[in-house]
Amino acid sequence: MSGNSNSTEFNFKKIIDQVIDAILILDGEQIVYSNRAADHLLSFDEHTTLCGLSIGMFITPLDMPSMRDALDKISLAQLDSESIRLSVHSSKNMHFPAEITLHPFIEQHHPLVQLTIRDISARKAAEESMIQSEKLSVIGELSAGIIHEIRNPLTSIKGFLQLMQSSEQINMDYIDIVMREIEQIENITGELLYFTKPKCEHFAPVDLGIIVQETVRLFETQALQHNIKLKLDTEASTHFINGEKTQLKQVFVNLVKNAFEASPDGSTITISLSTTDQGEDVFIQDTGSGMPKHVFNNLGKSFTTTKVTGTGLGLMVTYTIVKNHKGSVSVSSEENKGTTFHLSFPKAVKE
Ligand SMILES: Nc1ncnc2c1ncn2[C@@H]1O[C@H](COP(=O)(O)OP(=O)(O)O)[C@@H](O)[C@H]1O
Ligand SMILES: [Mg+2]
Repeated sequence: MSGNSNSTEFNFKKIIDQVIDAILILDGEQIVYSNRAADHLLSFDEHTTLCGLSIGMFITPLDMPSMRDALDKISLAQLDSESIRLSVHSSKNMHFPAEITLHPFIEQHHPLVQLTIRDISARKAAEESMIQSEKLSVIGELSAGIIHEIRNPLTSIKGFLQLMQSSEQINMDYIDIVMREIEQIENITGELLYFTKPKCEHFAPVDLGIIVQETVRLFETQALQHNIKLKLDTEASTHFINGEKTQLKQVFVNLVKNAFEASPDGSTITISLSTTDQGEDVFIQDTGSGMPKHVFNNLGKSFTTTKVTGTGLGLMVTYTIVKNHKGSVSVSSEENKGTTFHLSFPKAVKE
């Protein structure tokens, strides 16, 4: 990369100039070489050189600490490569999201870093439209079921109101039925709200231990009434993951509610939290009815329910929220023995 070019170096530079990816070579934070694609991407013409400029000129100030971290990491940890996503701005002050890959190398005993910069605006736009269409397809998939699930209670409400209309008497039993049917519609619409709410997810470090404690408190009265022992086992004092508290609370409420609904009076429900190298794990274990194969195989699919007033939406919402938190769910269940839901979330990373 020095000035005394020989023919091999000349050929090498010619090849690098033909590469479609933008390539820079850094000495510390200073650019010592740029190929044509880099000049073009960062909006310099062929006659102006990026050499001698600092990489800091092209990275959004907010992202510069991440860039420095990556440069430090690659030189200190002696990694082969490192990739980061950040916002780059060109000399024309245009911002674009970029994926930057760093490769360290040694040139004449001197450590340098090769940066490959890819404009990922198109990829990001495609990702966003995929998320949007996935949401739409979930709603589309659900709509036939939703109509069906809401039409049933509506038909029954209409029927009982017509009966009361013709008898001109208020029948308390009919009113009870109508109330129950209305509650059923409320349950369904309540659970579906999750999909219609605009996603204003503010993921921040949250302590799963606290969310689980709050959930347990919500079920304490019910536990007393049914003589169900609700146990909470935590290994560590904190269990931080990156997430959105209200959504995560909904996950635990759904799972504990299901555990209650499957548990006979006098049994035990145990929630345990544990920390692993990869992340935080939560187990919700009951000694209740367990589930038959046909239910087990359809878990998480909308309107899978074995309950008279069930919606069959709780687990679908639960799975969606866990997936959004980059977590995973596994279930084991044995009929008449009980069920365990095992959730794993990646540990909170500092921003
Ligand atoms: N802990 C559990 N024990 C036994 N069966 C369960 C458990 N959790 C879920 N299920 C089964 O999965 C079905 C779907 O649950 P869910 O999606 O929450 O809908 P809902 O509770 O409204 O029926 C339940 O109806 C039940 O048959
Ligand atoms: Mg449920």
